[in-house]
Amino acid sequence: MPHSHEDYLGEILITSEQLQKRIAELGAQISADYAGKDLLLVCILKGGVLFLTDLMRQIAVPHSIDFMAVSSYGAGTRESTGVVRIMMDLEIDIYGRNVLLVEDIIDSGHTLSYITRVLRARNPASLRICTLLDKAERREVDVPLDYVGFRIPNKFVFGYGLDLDEVYRNLAFIGVVKPEKVNQS
Ligand code: IMP
Ligand code: MG
Repeated sequence: MPHSHEDYLGEILITSEQLQKRIAELGAQISADYAGKDLLLVCILKGGVLFLTDLMRQIAVPHSIDFMAVSSYGAGTRESTGVVRIMMDLEIDIYGRNVLLVEDIIDSGHTLSYITRVLRARNPASLRICTLLDKAERREVDVPLDYVGFRIPNKFVFGYGLDLDEVYRNLAFIGVVKPEKVNQS
């Protein structure tokens, strides 16, 4: 049985109110940028799910959504390996579409760099990236980010879509893991 999230929570980094306020701003910006254009939001599972559902409610232009699942971690580690696998591909053909990728967090950049390479080869009309969190200090591969919710320090975070060993994605805020719990939950 998983423990209460409070056993792992060092501090709340971004409150629910701060998240919702920033997501409303991002939604307004995206609505302005895509006014009169076709728009397809592509959510990267599983971490991007809460962000997608809140963001799309703040986007005023008609749009479709689709999902893609990738895995970028070696088993039992919290480091991106640079080896990325597509676990579930898109249903919609993105040829000629304006695609906006919706991600939870960019860390090393390996995952997004791989996904954008795969999607570009399918010739969308445009491909942009919207990430809720940017751990810029950790970047190993350069990926151009078009919309960023928050730049965060190099700490392991969870909640609001992000998991700690597959649990606590449901939390309405972003929390920092207690340092002593970082590799032993
Ligand atoms: P990257 O390939 O290193 O950019 O890794 C991106 C992926 O790693 C994200 O989509 C998350 O699934 C995961 N990740 C990176 N940092 C964290 C974190 O602090 N908490 C939870 N997941 C993370
Ligand atoms: Mg992820």
